[in-house]
Amino acid sequence: MLFDLRPKESLKDLYDRVAEYRELSRLTGSGHWVAVLGKRMTGKTSLIKTFARENKGIYVNLLGARSFEDVSKRLLAGLGLKLDELTLNLKFLQIRWGRVLDEAFQFVKEKIIVLDEVQEISSPHFLKILKRVWDEYSGIRIVFSGSYIGVLRRLLEPSPASPLYGRKPATIVLKPFDHETSKNFLISGFQEYHQISFKGEEIEEAVERLNGYVGWLTYYGNFRCERRLPHDEALRETVREGSKIIQTELDHFLKNRRRELYVKVLRIVRAGARWSEIKRDLNINSKVLNDILKNLTSAMIVEGKEGYYWIEDPIMREAVKKLRP
Ligand SMILES: Nc1ncnc2c1ncn2[C@@H]1O[C@H](COP(=O)(O)OP(=O)(O)OP(=O)(O)O)[C@@H](O)[C@H]1O
Ligand SMILES: [Mg+2]
Repeated sequence: MLFDLRPKESLKDLYDRVAEYRELSRLTGSGHWVAVLGKRMTGKTSLIKTFARENKGIYVNLLGARSFEDVSKRLLAGLGLKLDELTLNLKFLQIRWGRVLDEAFQFVKEKIIVLDEVQEISSPHFLKILKRVWDEYSGIRIVFSGSYIGVLRRLLEPSPASPLYGRKPATIVLKPFDHETSKNFLISGFQEYHQISFKGEEIEEAVERLNGYVGWLTYYGNFRCERRLPHDEALRETVREGSKIIQTELDHFLKNRRRELYVKVLRIVRAGARWSEIKRDLNINSKVLNDILKNLTSAMIVEGKEGYYWIEDPIMREAVKKLRP
């Protein structure tokens, strides 16, 4: 069902994304590692999970896994292996997770391994293991994804000191659906519920307000067809729920950053502003402002082009409006 809120897992439920799916097949088929990027709610997890399932690959969600031990345990579980099945000498009290994973990969040999939500992983051991997989197991292809492109940077643009230097993955960027695709997505979703009627102008308004973000369109459709809310209410609830999700995400992003200043910048760029206007309004040092804008754009929160900055996702705009200073 298109309006199911969970990430899609099979091609029959995955709407569009034909070109991206094909590109993912082509790249992994020719031995590349790939990073699937995109803003919140553009359908990254659905694409990579479907791809893993359809190709007998493995999907591992690394959300919240911080230490190397956490990552190793998730990977092991994803690979369907138990610690005691490996031939390791486990007499050591201290488990050597690097070796455990090394053995685990020997079992796997030829597979696609999809790692979702890799953005929080900072363990240098993890990067070293990836290098080992790259060097030793050419049959394993890894697909990465996650929310914040900025934090994926270490993977995507490794510094010369990084174990992944020279092993940059190919990237696929998921864009929001265009106007026509968004409309057709909603219509196809509604058609799965024979008893629910809808009007063309409602579809038009929903697409206008939610702007091609498949996740928000799915929320709206779900509110209409599962929760049976009328159009206006469904739209209001989508914006409310969505902006709650994004606010949590923004709070997380702003942790350990100069929140007050970031919030001021976000409030100004919400409606679109030139660099010089932001600088004048805030009266701050150019370098500080440039750093803030760089962090916000690489985290895909803000768009920037030729000195003009704005927020594209309408739900993000709403979340910024409600963000506490
Ligand atoms: N191609 C698609 N066809 C149908 N539904 C989709 C598609 N892509 C995403 N969805 C729906 O949109 C919502 C968000 O999808 P998903 O979790 O895959 O996005 P995401 O980009 O990984 O989001 P996040 O940024 O939160 O990780 C889910 O409800 C999912 O079912
Ligand atoms: Mg996701």
